[in-house]
Amino acid sequence: MSSSGEAELLHTFQGIPFSTRSSPELLKSLHTFDAREDDVLLVSYPKSGTHWLAGVITKLYSTQVTVTSPIEFGDISQLEELNKLSSKRIIPTHLDYNMLPPNFKNKKCKMIYICRNPKDTAVSMFHYYRDNPNLPTVDTWTAFFDLFLKGNVVCGSWFDHFLSWEEHEDDKNILFLFYEDMKKDLPKVVKEITLFLSINVSDKDIQDICQRSSFSEMKSDTEKENSDPSHTVCALTSNRRLIFRKGAVGDWKNYFTPKQNIRFQEMFNEKMKLSKM
Ligand code: A3P
Repeated sequence: MSSSGEAELLHTFQGIPFSTRSSPELLKSLHTFDAREDDVLLVSYPKSGTHWLAGVITKLYSTQVTVTSPIEFGDISQLEELNKLSSKRIIPTHLDYNMLPPNFKNKKCKMIYICRNPKDTAVSMFHYYRDNPNLPTVDTWTAFFDLFLKGNVVCGSWFDHFLSWEEHEDDKNILFLFYEDMKKDLPKVVKEITLFLSINVSDKDIQDICQRSSFSEMKSDTEKENSDPSHTVCALTSNRRLIFRKGAVGDWKNYFTPKQNIRFQEMFNEKMKLSKM
């Protein structure tokens, strides 16, 4: 990683690296954010399928909803901008649980956490680092692998992020979803989402929504649309073309060497020893 790139594009807040697209002033003020009881949070570590989930959820509502930009995106004016929205807000975030504005917790807002095999997440993030001018330059997969394991990447350690949320897995207002389950049986997961959000959608409409949310459909929609640069679901880019890369399970096998796999597994076993995962 080039050190000048790192210095310019990332900064650390409460021990976690953030992109400079999240200003320190905004991060410092997050705790003042006024949540509404009907807000829905879409929570993820980067590259876990956030856009996919957002794409599905917006199609489920028949009333007007707005997928906002991530709560941690932008400068201090972000909080005011979000407050101005009159429609129901679907708010994406990559924040770990401890940094979440307390109002969301006190008001028991519904939150959906999407998780993906961290090995595939790492590979997806490696490509994102390479293609995304808002992130520091990484030269090789080997270099990125080390940074990822150390948690020296934007949004910090995958393990810490996941564990901070998993601790709240049994909270009634939090739904845990897995990218791999969405790949295996999307209608089943979508049904689960509708029950969690108490939205009435027929099985036929669910099938239709799943078809319109396939990787190929979403990728081609993005290529057709003139995306609005101010509209972003990810705090790290507003360029949707960077998002739809491969959309596969198990791509890590094309990148991890046997030695890297052992190192990863050791770290996983150590960090996740108290996890149910
Ligand atoms: P890959 O880089 O492995 O292809 P996020 O939205 O959190 O940034 O996650 C991006 C990852 O989700 C990318 O993974 C992207 O291809 C994948 N993705 C996006 N839409 C998808 C879909 N409809 N089906 C499957 N995967 C999807």
